[in-house]
Amino acid sequence: MGRGSHDCSVLRSLLLLLCLSSAAAQKASTWKTLSGDAPLVIAKGGFSGLFPDSSDFALNFASLSSPSAALWCDVQLTKDGAGICLPDINMDNCTIIPNAYLNGVKTYNVNGVSVKGWFPMDYKSTDLLRDVSLKQPINSRTDKFDGLFAIVPVEDVLSKYKTPVWLNVQYDSFYSQFNLSMRNYILSVSKQYGVDYISSPEVNFLNSLLGRVSKKTKLVFRFLDEHTVEPSTNQTYGSMLKNLTFIKTFASGVLVPKQYILPVTQDNYLQPHTSVVDDAHKAGLEVYAADFANDFLLSYNYSYDPLMEYLSFIDNGAFSVDGVLTDFPITPSAAIGCFTNLNNSKTDHAKPLVISHNGASGDYPDCTDLAYQKAVADGAEVIDCPVQVTKDGIPICMSSIDLGDVTTVATSQFASQTTIIQDIKGAPGFYSFNLTWEDIVKNLKPRISSPMSKYDMHRNPRNRNAGNFMRLSDFLAFAKGEDLSGVMISVERAAFMAEKLGFGVVDVVIKALDDSGYSKQTAQKVMIQSTNSSVLVKFKQQTKYNLVYMIEELVGDAAPSSVADIKKFADAVSVNTLSIYPATAKFLTNQTNHLVQSLQSAGLPVYVYVLMNEFVSQPYDFFSDATLQINAYVNRPDGGVDGLITDFPATAHRYKLNSCMNMGNNTPVFMLPPQPGGLIQNMLGAAQPPALAPMPPLTESDIVEPPLPPVNHATAPAPSHAAIRMHTDVSILVTLMLCASLMI
Ligand SMILES: *[C@@H]1O[C@H](CO)[C@@H](O)[C@H](O)[C@H]1NC(C)=O
Ligand SMILES: *[C@@H]1O[C@H](CO)[C@@H](O)[C@H](O)[C@H]1NC(C)=O
Ligand SMILES: *[C@@H]1O[C@H](CO)[C@@H](O)[C@H](O)[C@H]1NC(C)=O
Ligand SMILES: *[C@@H]1O[C@H](CO)[C@@H](O)[C@H](O)[C@H]1NC(C)=O
Ligand SMILES: *[C@@H]1O[C@H](CO)[C@@H](O)[C@H](O)[C@H]1NC(C)=O
Ligand SMILES: *[C@@H]1O[C@H](CO)[C@@H](O)[C@H](O)[C@H]1NC(C)=O
Ligand SMILES: *[C@@H]1O[C@H](CO)[C@@H](O)[C@H](O)[C@H]1NC(C)=O
Ligand SMILES: *[C@@H]1O[C@H](CO)[C@@H](O)[C@H](O)[C@H]1NC(C)=O
Ligand SMILES: *[C@@H]1O[C@H](CO)[C@@H](O)[C@H](O)[C@H]1NC(C)=O
Repeated sequence: MGRGSHDCSVLRSLLLLLCLSSAAAQKASTWKTLSGDAPLVIAKGGFSGLFPDSSDFALNFASLSSPSAALWCDVQLTKDGAGICLPDINMDNCTIIPNAYLNGVKTYNVNGVSVKGWFPMDYKSTDLLRDVSLKQPINSRTDKFDGLFAIVPVEDVLSKYKTPVWLNVQYDSFYSQFNLSMRNYILSVSKQYGVDYISSPEVNFLNSLLGRVSKKTKLVFRFLDEHTVEPSTNQTYGSMLKNLTFIKTFASGVLVPKQYILPVTQDNYLQPHTSVVDDAHKAGLEVYAADFANDFLLSYNYSYDPLMEYLSFIDNGAFSVDGVLTDFPITPSAAIGCFTNLNNSKTDHAKPLVISHNGASGDYPDCTDLAYQKAVADGAEVIDCPVQVTKDGIPICMSSIDLGDVTTVATSQFASQTTIIQDIKGAPGFYSFNLTWEDIVKNLKPRISSPMSKYDMHRNPRNRNAGNFMRLSDFLAFAKGEDLSGVMISVERAAFMAEKLGFGVVDVVIKALDDSGYSKQTAQKVMIQSTNSSVLVKFKQQTKYNLVYMIEELVGDAAPSSVADIKKFADAVSVNTLSIYPATAKFLTNQTNHLVQSLQSAGLPVYVYVLMNEFVSQPYDFFSDATLQINAYVNRPDGGVDGLITDFPATAHRYKLNSCMNMGNNTPVFMLPPQPGGLIQNMLGAAQPPALAPMPPLTESDIVEPPLPPVNHATAPAPSHAAIRMHTDVSILVTLMLCASLMI
């Protein structure tokens, strides 16, 4: 296959599903845009978040997955005055030109900045189109599609796509130094094809088009960084923002960095919105916001949820921008088509069940009061408590038996008290059963979990040590007062606790539930989850609670005999995200797993764990969007999951409110599930990640376990000091009251 000549017919397989349906969801609602119409989605260089910017593949993919999106092309000029779409004037950044023209490197002064690289006006268009292929300019993105696609002439975009086209002319005065006229070029193509939008950060350029392009063409003035000087007026963009009536003399709209509208602090927290949209609308200007990408660091206020960011620009009650410029057009398309004007007070306990994972642990430290409060406020229907035990035998909610994972123990007075427990792990740990409840509450603080820290992604730093620890009894008392479908209590290492700690965790959990009144009340379901069948067997012997078997391994299916085994002790099953959609190197494979079907057809509801908003936790096929990931699990062609176990209940709950559910054949393309293996198929052989060995089915030997050992009372924990002190306090009080009454 020749360089830059990837056959675009391969798109067909990938987009087959997308093409089956084309009806975009129509919204009757009125928008707070200038026109009252829905905001425009502008696909920057096509679907450039995943495929090389401005490749035919990226453009095609954007137009198919977001049918009403405008296609954005950054116009550059070649030596012979031809127009090409390239996101950067330095071709080194977005093409693999050094492979073809190793010695072509030059240095030019581009609007006052010295830039070293390869420049379009040094090459003839025929040479570039023949010799140079595109690559992903952003280093953190996948390079699997680099080198596959040729540079695209502007005319091709204008003639090929039925969607609106947006031409951005970033440099006019620079090209004029080489006797290349952007003005002449743009006027010629807009005469021939008609252009819907033309934007530029140069006043003189837009002025030069005024009255010479079709009245239907919108001219949009692009604001750059506030401190940058606009070349024709010598004013900074920041100061030009103060004179919108001047902008209106030559433009019908403005394109601004999104921080112009919703500024963020240095430490990345959102500030109240500015008046830019209102001011511009009052001046009769449309406002387009730029720089959206699902895989850039979002403000912490969005909890790593890119769809939430779009909603804050289009559905915030105060205003809506008129369009968003994005590398991931599918997410704003879904936001606009299915996620605005949602009725948050709608309580809907139907499938899929939203189950928290350590509370709203994406926003607050695991299993703290704040994490549980947030989970409930965010619409979790079930909140969860993973049970650990303290030295004084108190069951607590803690996501890890090693306090080093989720508390400040390593920097506390207990820092030197590590233990190696081979039954748990080879490395030293600070175990919950080595500290009393009082030790923990008085001396430690919770610490927010950071499952994606290897990608340098950390959860809300301002909440790093927020909240209070919870005992199981505190958790149950809290949950009981809330409008929940139920609670889920996870029990692990029961055998270890019985033998080595003398702690009968099953009995203790049953007692805590009894004490909290859960054994009598029926409004909330009690779910007990464990990866060890022996725990569930014991609960089944003693209670009528709903028992959830968590399958720890990655499995592709479950044989009928093993499903029958599970049915003996469980009412539902939790399975790993990757068992349902297997992935290699973060791309979905085309392996078809039947696990969900096998379990559901046996009457076992299936819950998927663990969903996270951070895009690095998701395969690329979900487009770095937690909502589309959830959609893939719920909208599966052969059966959606029954529950979502998530660190971010807000995202899962909002998903359930979306207005594009159950639309059958009318489901908008952007809400269809991905075709597993679709992305891999479009890579060159050499770039394809290694094939994944088929996942083994779940077998009886994985499931059946010996019964729990008896509790070894020789190792039983000392009685709780807290409890003893409580008794003392009460007796002192009683004594005082008696004395008082005697004194009367
Ligand atoms: C591409 O350009 C951007 C902005 O000019 C720059 O930050 C980035 O480092 C460049 N990337 C490469 C690979 O040169
Ligand atoms: C541009 O054209 C002018 C006048 O025709 C000529 O003097 C100049 O050398 C040309 N510059 C370049 C870079 O070709
Ligand atoms: C812009 O400012 C520079 C230096 O301050 C000056 O040389 C130039 O003439 C000015 N241009 C215009 C159009 O005012
Ligand atoms: C705004 O720009 C117009 C046109 O350049 C100018 O006449 C007017 O004085 C400016 N207004 C302000 C407040 O700077
Ligand atoms: C963003 O989060 C911070 C910290 O929680 C909060 O103080 C701020 O008000 C939030 N910003 C907005 C616009 O809600
Ligand atoms: C929102 O949902 C609630 C509960 O279902 C309902 O009572 C209310 O009328 C709905 N509000 C709107 C504006 O539809
Ligand atoms: C922690 O508890 C285990 C089990 O009771 C015990 O063997 C170990 O010595 C304890 N470690 C510390 C530091 O107290
Ligand atoms: C899965 O993909 C591989 C390689 O891309 C291909 O050989 C195989 O036929 C595909 N299997 C299915 C079931 O589509
Ligand atoms: C499950 O519990 C049993 C005791 O009931 C124990 O022997 C077994 O090792 C446990 N299995 C796992 C995988 O931890």
